[in-house]
Parts: sequence; C-alpha cells; structure tokens
Amino acid sequence: MVSPSALLASVAPDFLAQQPQRPSAEQIELHDGLSDSPAHIDPKFLYDALGSSLFTAITQLPEYYPTRCEDEIFQRHGADIARHIGPVQALIDLGAGDCVKAERLFASLRPSHYVPVDISADYLQAAVRRLELSYPDLAITAVGQDFSRAIALPSDIPAERRLFFYPGSSIGNLGPDDAYAMLRRIRDACPGGGLLVGVDRVKPRHILEPAYDDALHLTAAFNLNLLRHVNAVLDSDFDVDDWRHVAVYNNELSRIEMHLEAQRALRVTWPGGQREFRRGERIHTENSHKFTPQAFSNLLLSAGFRDVAQWSDARGWFSVFSARA
Ligand code: AVJ
Repeated sequence: MVSPSALLASVAPDFLAQQPQRPSAEQIELHDGLSDSPAHIDPKFLYDALGSSLFTAITQLPEYYPTRCEDEIFQRHGADIARHIGPVQALIDLGAGDCVKAERLFASLRPSHYVPVDISADYLQAAVRRLELSYPDLAITAVGQDFSRAIALPSDIPAERRLFFYPGSSIGNLGPDDAYAMLRRIRDACPGGGLLVGVDRVKPRHILEPAYDDALHLTAAFNLNLLRHVNAVLDSDFDVDDWRHVAVYNNELSRIEMHLEAQRALRVTWPGGQREFRRGERIHTENSHKFTPQAFSNLLLSAGFRDVAQWSDARGWFSVFSARA
C-alpha cells in the first residue's frame, strides 16, 4: 500500500507533508481545546480546502476591507517598499493560500526561490501547479506545514537574503505574547534578511464588526465550516445547524473575536471524549488583533528587528511594515 505522504511526494516532489500518527497532535489539541472552559478551537482549523476558498470569497466582500487596503498599499507604495527591502533571494510566504499576493511581488522583488508555506496543503498544491507554469525559471518549494509553533524550512532554501512575507494581518490571529514569539522565530530564520508584514489597524467598531459579520453570511459559513473540518479531523459529531456565528470587537484587548454559539443544549462526542454545551454557550474560534502603527513598530523592535518602515492606505485602515532582521 502506498502511504498518503508517499503518494503526495510522487505527484509533487518538492511538497512536504506531515506524517500522520494516531492520536495525532491535531486530535490531541482539539480534544484539549474542546474540554476547556470556555471551549476553544485554534483558527488554523478554519482552513481546510473549503475554508480557504471561503476566505478567498470573504476578501471580495464590500465589508471586508483589509485585503483591498493592503492591495492599495502595494499599488501606491510598491516601488518604495521594494527599495526598502533591497535584493531578495528566497521569498518565504507564510500562510500563502492562493499565492496571489506574493505573485504580485515577483516583478519588483525578483526572488530566485519562492517558498509558500500553508497549513492547507491541498489548496496550496493547486496554487503552486498554476505558478509553476507561469514562472518556469522560479524555484518553488511548497511547504504544507503548520508554522504556528515552529518554522521548519527544507534545507535547499537559500539562507542568504531571505524575505519573510506575512501579509493580510494574519499575525493578528496571535495574542501579544505569541505574536512576539512568532516574530522572534522569523527573525532567527532570516539573519541578514527581512520581514514584510501586513497589519490591520485599530478603528471604530462600526467598521470592524461588519467586516467579520457580513450581510451575505460568508464569514458565518467560514466560521461554521470549522466544525465540519473538526468532524473530519477528530471524528466528532458536531451538527452545523446547532450553531450560530458570533463576531464582536473586544475594545479592551483590541481584537475581533469569533465564536460559535450553541443554539440549544447539546452534546458533542468524539473518540476518547465528549462535551455538553448549554444553549448560548460558546466556542472561541478566532482572535483578530488590531494594532496602532506605534504598537506594532515597538513589537518589531522588541523582537530584534531594525530599520522599521511603515506604509498605509489613504484612509489609514491598514499598515504594511518592512523591517530588517
Ligand atoms: C486571515 C487571519 C487575517 O483575521 O481578518 C477573516 C481571517 N476571519 N474573516 C482576519 C478572517 C474572519 C483573517 N486573517
């Protein structure tokens, strides 16, 4: 019998995937999070193939401004940003998704090596297929990996002039301590290189909340789909119909919180565990932290970066930072 990872390797030689074990680290993590009070599930479980597609759809919603603001920044200040970054050998794209954002940087940064990293391996693989045809001279090493705890890059990635690209305010999923730890790990992985990172800014609730609770209910579908993904990973019996999407801005902690709220008293079971939920009880599924430019600049400096530069869109809703490691 051919193991799943061997199969993956045979169709995509540069593709790394994690070896499954049972119970897997993911199953243990889900069991622990669901057993906690209040229950929580890491936002990385939002991104199975359907979840990744739903997120791409969200970026096209009128209410979801971050992607458009970030695009505007790269359009208006792209040349300036490229000048600040300087020469790049390996462009390492954290949470690459459909790879579209990094692709737009190829012309100005001219990397010789592109390293998209994403937990959603299938989705990434499809994106990389497309890129390989368009950029035959670019070395592409796709990495299907959860980079939230450690960044393990294949040894063939050039060590010189690495640029880590962490767009979309994905760093906002992390709390202050974890964001600091992530920035330190990035800095340690690119000595002499740099970081290009997109960060969403603090702004009024009436702009933030609709961006995470849109009229078409795409964000609700995105959040609820996490339960389908969890069922697939954990073999649990969540019924999506029993749950409701909730998104609120927590002003004290400067973050949007997404939760799933039980619509009735219910029980969820999985191999080795179960959990009862009261009606109205919530599972916390995501934090999306918002920063002031000053606070994020300080975070970069405290993590050991220097030469910090920042660009914003015309409305000042989003920031892109470039910093040297
Ligand atoms: C991909 C983490 C940046 O926090 O805005 C979008 C994810 N969640 N709508 C964000 C998300 C709900 C997004 N990030």
